[in-house]
Amino acid sequence: QNLAVIFGGQSSEHEISCMSASNIIQCIDAQRYNIVLVGITKEGHWVEAADLNAVQDGSWRQSKTSIVLSPDATRKGLYRMSEDEKAQFVHLDVIFPVLHGLYGEDGTVQGLFKLAGIPFVGCGLFASAAGMDKLYTKIIVDTLGIRQAKYVPVYKEELLKMDEVVARVESALEYPVFVKPSRAGSSKGVNKAANREQLKNALVEAADNDRKILVEETIIGREVECAVLGNLDVKASGVGEILSADEFYDFDAKYYNSESKTLVDPPMPENMREQIREDAVKIFMALDGRGLSRVDFFLTESGVVFNEINTLPGFTAISMYPMLWEAQGIPKKELVQKLIDLAFE
Ligand code: DAL
Ligand code: MG
Repeated sequence: QNLAVIFGGQSSEHEISCMSASNIIQCIDAQRYNIVLVGITKEGHWVEAADLNAVQDGSWRQSKTSIVLSPDATRKGLYRMSEDEKAQFVHLDVIFPVLHGLYGEDGTVQGLFKLAGIPFVGCGLFASAAGMDKLYTKIIVDTLGIRQAKYVPVYKEELLKMDEVVARVESALEYPVFVKPSRAGSSKGVNKAANREQLKNALVEAADNDRKILVEETIIGREVECAVLGNLDVKASGVGEILSADEFYDFDAKYYNSESKTLVDPPMPENMREQIREDAVKIFMALDGRGLSRVDFFLTESGVVFNEINTLPGFTAISMYPMLWEAQGIPKKELVQKLIDLAFE
């Protein structure tokens, strides 16, 4: 069977995607699958990576073989284009998208795969789009009665009347607040604002990343995460905890600060652990999730508070998703195979 791994991408999480992909490629059964490695540059150019080394050292970006995925559902595959534009068709049985953030985790490529009639790993168009959009996720989670941070939605256009926006935020929430672009991954454009001046700056910065902005109350608590796996029979893993070196688990702390540590199955009240596992599945189902997701929560003195869902969670060597399943007795290779199998169910 021909399996395409698609990685890189145009989002701010391009590098993380390459790290996740490198890890996943090593877990795919090379006896069973003929693997085609498709990298998307930051500019959005699709090329073929020669091998795992090229993925790891970044030289795939200089590849002269372009890739064109056909949206034609009667073809089901991609074209390998040499420099002189000679095309070779490659049938695809399944696609493993390992893309994080915009144009990868937000339903865009999932729509393309669907159109192409090729089975793919993970959430479909709707769940991906809804899960990427923090504001939209909030609206869905509100209907489940699951606790989450209080929030005020702000649209970029409204920033022309900044004073009105500030008044709206201040009447609903207390400082410090978190200001987040509704659709962005790995904490890009996210800032904490402790006063009016910082709020204004944070809103402007968030607006550079998205038209929709979310201002949230600050939740004080431990950062915990739960992995889910399955289509209809959805399983929840144990719970993991992020021990961040920085004030909050921002982009740098996540990937470049070795002081950030993760903990699998940390001590916590048993009823809270169970609630996290149940809520994770409920949220995944409500979003019409499929395959996999990682659902993030805060553990506060007054209980569990939902934070966000990641429909294509990081799969790097230090990522929580594979670690949580390993702790459940599912080694990485088995997990990757399970994810591929779920694409066909
Ligand atoms: N968005 C990153 C990859 C994560 O949450 O794991
Ligand atoms: Mg994310």
